Amino acid sequence: MNVAMIADAQKRVAAARALDFVRPGMRLGLGTGSTAAHFVDLLGERVKAGLDVVAVPTSEATRAQAGRLGIKLTTLDETPELDLTVDGADEIAPDLTLIKGGGGALLREKIVASASAKMVVIADQSKLVEVLGRFPLPIEIAPFGATATRRAIEQATAAAGCPGPARPRRLPNGHPFVTDGGHWLLDAQLQSIADPRTLAVRLSAIPGVVEHGLFIGLAQTAIVAGPDGVRLIERP
Ligand code: A5P
Repeated sequence: MNVAMIADAQKRVAAARALDFVRPGMRLGLGTGSTAAHFVDLLGERVKAGLDVVAVPTSEATRAQAGRLGIKLTTLDETPELDLTVDGADEIAPDLTLIKGGGGALLREKIVASASAKMVVIADQSKLVEVLGRFPLPIEIAPFGATATRRAIEQATAAAGCPGPARPRRLPNGHPFVTDGGHWLLDAQLQSIADPRTLAVRLSAIPGVVEHGLFIGLAQTAIVAGPDGVRLIERP
């Protein structure tokens, strides 16, 4: 097996462990990305076997996958309080602060996680880091005034002690990547975010910023799979 196949097998192991948190009748949030897709797949098997749950997907991709598997879907308008969200992450710090949004779904992911009594993050062990920031921080912005917003973001990251360029995310054809919400994404290359809270406050204060990929105080449990098995990490 190559590295990608090993990581994918670990993602599935973490996703399978997350099923232990699911109870009949629960209202679930379904994450986005390759790890969350394993969870949705395994949940679909349980649903086929008779498990009764309803779920809010965090992206059109997850909505399509869950629909194909026969998982009963709802919306946050019909079901504004959820019991449990299971989602992946791009980086996980020891205090379970996360970087998310590599797949471009960070806005819905954060809304759904915030509406949930519990968020469980699932990952292979490559996602564990001591300090966030090697993975470029996704920031969702309004297309209007994008250049001005990008400059304000670069000033904010420098003021928060982690300067670096914020690069527009593009599709292979050169067009901007457009999120499910119709916004654009910047990927801020910061290397090391010593103070995620300060950075989060500064980014949220910029008018053109719709949302950023720092998830602070949302995940309560991380399920991390590695070569020696699965580890559960609780938020301190
Ligand atoms: C989607 O927008 C992201 O937040 C994903 O949860 C994150 O990128 C992890 O994706 P993988 O599970 O594919 O690594």
